[in-house]
Amino acid sequence: MPRFKIETWGCQMNEYDSQKMVGLLKKNGFTQTESEEDAEIFILNTCSVREKAVHKIHSRVGVLKKRYGNRKIVGVCGCVASHEGRELLEKIPSLKFVLGTRSIHLITEAVNRALNGAKFLDTNDHTNEMDAPITFAERVGQTKAYVSIIEGCDNFCTYCVVPFTRGHEHSRPFSVILDEVRNAVETKGIHEIELLGQNVNSYNYEGKCFADVLQAVSEQPDVQRVRFLTSHPKDFNENLVRVIAAHDNVCPTIHLPMQSGSDRILKKMGRQYSRIDYLRKIEMVREILPECWLSSDFIVGFPGEDEKDFMDTMNVIQSVKYDNLFSFKYSPRPRTAALKLKDDPVPDSIASSRLSILQHAQEQIQLNKHLQMINHVYPVLVESFSKKNPKRLTGRTEGNHVVHFEAGRAEQLIGSIVDVRIESVTMASLKARLV
Ligand code: 5AD
Ligand code: SF4
Repeated sequence: MPRFKIETWGCQMNEYDSQKMVGLLKKNGFTQTESEEDAEIFILNTCSVREKAVHKIHSRVGVLKKRYGNRKIVGVCGCVASHEGRELLEKIPSLKFVLGTRSIHLITEAVNRALNGAKFLDTNDHTNEMDAPITFAERVGQTKAYVSIIEGCDNFCTYCVVPFTRGHEHSRPFSVILDEVRNAVETKGIHEIELLGQNVNSYNYEGKCFADVLQAVSEQPDVQRVRFLTSHPKDFNENLVRVIAAHDNVCPTIHLPMQSGSDRILKKMGRQYSRIDYLRKIEMVREILPECWLSSDFIVGFPGEDEKDFMDTMNVIQSVKYDNLFSFKYSPRPRTAALKLKDDPVPDSIASSRLSILQHAQEQIQLNKHLQMINHVYPVLVESFSKKNPKRLTGRTEGNHVVHFEAGRAEQLIGSIVDVRIESVTMASLKARLV
């Protein structure tokens, strides 16, 4: 049977979509390969959140064309496919199929058509498909199962392309979510569940809210860890934090993207909360969950951002002291409202220097936080052998820190939670000993 290689860019939702496509293709007799030479079919599952990501994909298609001419089938799925649709097929004649984010269940059909020499395009909104339980996602070698609870986004932050690529918000049925969780635990032996959504706090299905989902998932037998991504600060509430606090298996880990510390910029971004609203929510979290791990996303160089706005952002970073931070230079995206702002764009050199100031400050904060973990014991879910040293295992703390440690009965430990004592740290990871 033909061999395919799948290449994934972007967020966890894309990783999950790739796992679904792998599962479907394997079920239909195709074979997955990691080798470029061996692969007859290339599936590029793409991200369009920043321009750079889109460039990378276009250049990857160019490289494949140059290396293999028309000998390989190349198709594009995911956000770039949704965003550019037919235009993409017209612009890049060597492409054989284009499947939007809500059409990936058609991957087998797309590949079969391509094998028969025909092109395939589908960027429709298949909402019914989203409601069906997904039991075919490839989970081999995984210790964590993604389960998507809500897809799309209706927030339309002015910089963000996601509402145009992932469509309107659609909450998946409550019972289907629980079925998927049980399937991962019972048939795949996975004990960590990560609930996914562009904005999990908007979940709303027949009167059930996200706190209800979190509670029900954490109460399923043999679920040892539950995580979730991503929360929008405007909808993030105390009820949810109380559910986290009441369930030992829900990781006290909260990713709460702030984007900017300046009220002026938050308004232009259309974020629907102020700096003080956000900081009050952080205070509330720390009161209820003092041991909580916090992370965030920030954008620098948004149109009109001046030194004072940037200092407002830096003040938040210095005062909250996040455990992890994802930071980006603003990237103008087609169709987004920010393109119409009258504010002056921030010169790239200034945006770059702000980004490096922010990242340098965060490195120091993170290193100090890691140093404070030395000699303390943490539960770690063991994920795999370390890539660099096969004698070593790699796992994650509840706070998502990557931990490396050596262990005798190594293989049996993968997929289980063990206690480790932290011995040394860097900014990026921790070294530990089994206790
Ligand atoms: N430019 C830069 N960063 C962006 N993000 C989203 N859109 C853009 C953009 N146009 C960032 C936000 C978001 C994260 C996933 O990507 O910080 O939270
Ligand atoms: Fe994009 Fe805003 Fe929706 Fe997040 S909440 S996906 S940043 S539009």
